[in-house]
Amino acid sequence: MLITPSIAAHSATLPLAPLAIARRAVGPQDVQIDIEFCGICHTDLHVAKNDWGRSVYPIVPGHEIVGRVRAVGAQVTRFAPGQAVAVGCFVGSCGTCSSCADHMEQYCLSGYTLTYGSPSADPGGYTQGGYSKSIVVGQDFVLSLPDGLDPASAAPLLCAGITSYSPLRHWGIGPGMTVGVIGLGGLGHMGIKLAHAMGAKTVMITTSPGKAADAMRLGANEVLISTDEEAMLVMANQFDFLLNTIPVPHDFNAYMSLLKVDGTMCIVGAIGPNAQLNTRPMILGRRNIAGSLVGGIRETQEMLNFCAAHGIVSDIELIKAADINQAYERMQKNDVKYRFVIDMASLV
Ligand SMILES: NC(=O)c1ccc[n+]([C@@H]2O[C@H](COP(=O)([O-])OP(=O)(O)OC[C@H]3O[C@@H](n4cnc5c(N)ncnc54)[C@H](OP(=O)(O)O)[C@@H]3O)[C@@H](O)[C@H]2O)c1
Ligand SMILES: [Zn+2]
Ligand SMILES: [Zn+2]
Repeated sequence: MLITPSIAAHSATLPLAPLAIARRAVGPQDVQIDIEFCGICHTDLHVAKNDWGRSVYPIVPGHEIVGRVRAVGAQVTRFAPGQAVAVGCFVGSCGTCSSCADHMEQYCLSGYTLTYGSPSADPGGYTQGGYSKSIVVGQDFVLSLPDGLDPASAAPLLCAGITSYSPLRHWGIGPGMTVGVIGLGGLGHMGIKLAHAMGAKTVMITTSPGKAADAMRLGANEVLISTDEEAMLVMANQFDFLLNTIPVPHDFNAYMSLLKVDGTMCIVGAIGPNAQLNTRPMILGRRNIAGSLVGGIRETQEMLNFCAAHGIVSDIELIKAADINQAYERMQKNDVKYRFVIDMASLV
C-alpha cells in the first residue's frame, strides 16, 4: 500500500481539507501514476456537497487527471515509467456486457466503477479520485496524453472535453449544421471549441451577457442571451443540435423551440428529476430530447488525439491545493473562466 497526500470532502458542509489516503499496491495489470494536475468539475462539487444524496465520506474528488507513470505491474504492456498519461471519469467496468463490447464502458450494464466514490477493492472500500499526489489504475482505463498538449490545460479534457465530444460525434455534428451550447462553464467552453473544430456553426446560449466576448473568442459564431425572450423567439427553429450543460433542474421548454424539426437537445448537465416537461414543442416539431454520459475509453483517446491535432485545450485557472475551497465557492457563484485545475506540486 502507498500512502498519498490528498484533499478530501469530509462532509457535505465542512470545507475540503487535506487527508492522507492509502492506494492499493500495484497489481499485475496496474499503472501507478504521479498526478501532476487535476481539473475541478462541477460534478466534484455536487458530490462534495452531497447534492445527489449518495456521497460517502471522506471522499477525494477529481476525475480530470493528468500525470506521469511511476510504476507498472508485470502484465502492463502499453505503459512505461515516465510516460505522460491521463485518467478520466471511470476506472473499471465489467468488460463483458454488450456496452463494454461496443467500447461504451460508461453505459456498462453491470455498472462501471467511477474514479471516485464507487465501491471497490481499494483500501477503504471505495475509489478515491484525483485531488491527490498519486493514483493506481488498471491499464485498460489509462489514456495516453498525446505530445503537444499542455498537461495542465489538457486535464479538463478528461471530463469536460469528452462529455462534450461524445454527443457531438454521436449526433454527427459537422459542416452545414447549427449547434447551440447552453451554459458557458467547463463543459460549455469545450463544447464550443469542439463543435467549431468539427465545422459546425456554433451559438453560445448563456444567461451571462458578460461572457459574450469570451464566447466569440472561444469559437462561437453568435451569442444568444437566454433571458432575452425576444432574441430567443428570433432564433426559434434554427438549431440542429443543442448541448445543454446547465447544472441544475430548469425549464427545458424554453430551449426546445430553438430546435429545427427533428433537432435534438442533449442534456449533459442536470442529472435527476426536472421540472415538468411540456411535450408540445416535441410533438409539433418531432423534436428529440436526449442525454449523454461522458464517453468510452476508446472514444476518450480519440478525443485526446483530435484535440492534439486541432490544438485544442481548456482555458484554465491554475490554482494551489490550498485554494480549493475558494475555487468551489467561485464555481457555485458561476465565476469560473473556464476550468479550475489544481497544481498537485503545491500539495505536500
Ligand atoms: N453527463 C455527463 O457525463 C457529465 C459530465 C461532467 C459534468 N456533468 C454535469 O454537467 C454540469 C455542468 O458542469 P460544468 O463543470 O460545466 O459546470 P460549470 O463550469 O459550473 O458551468 C455550468 C454553466 O451553466 C450555466 N448555469 C449555471 N447555473 C445556471 C442556472 N441556474 N440557469 C441557467 N444556466 C446556468 C452557467 O453558464 P452561463 O453563465 O453561460 O449561463 C455556468 O457557467 C454539472 O451538473 C455536472 O455535474 C455531466
Ligand atoms: Zn466531470
Ligand atoms: Zn459492462
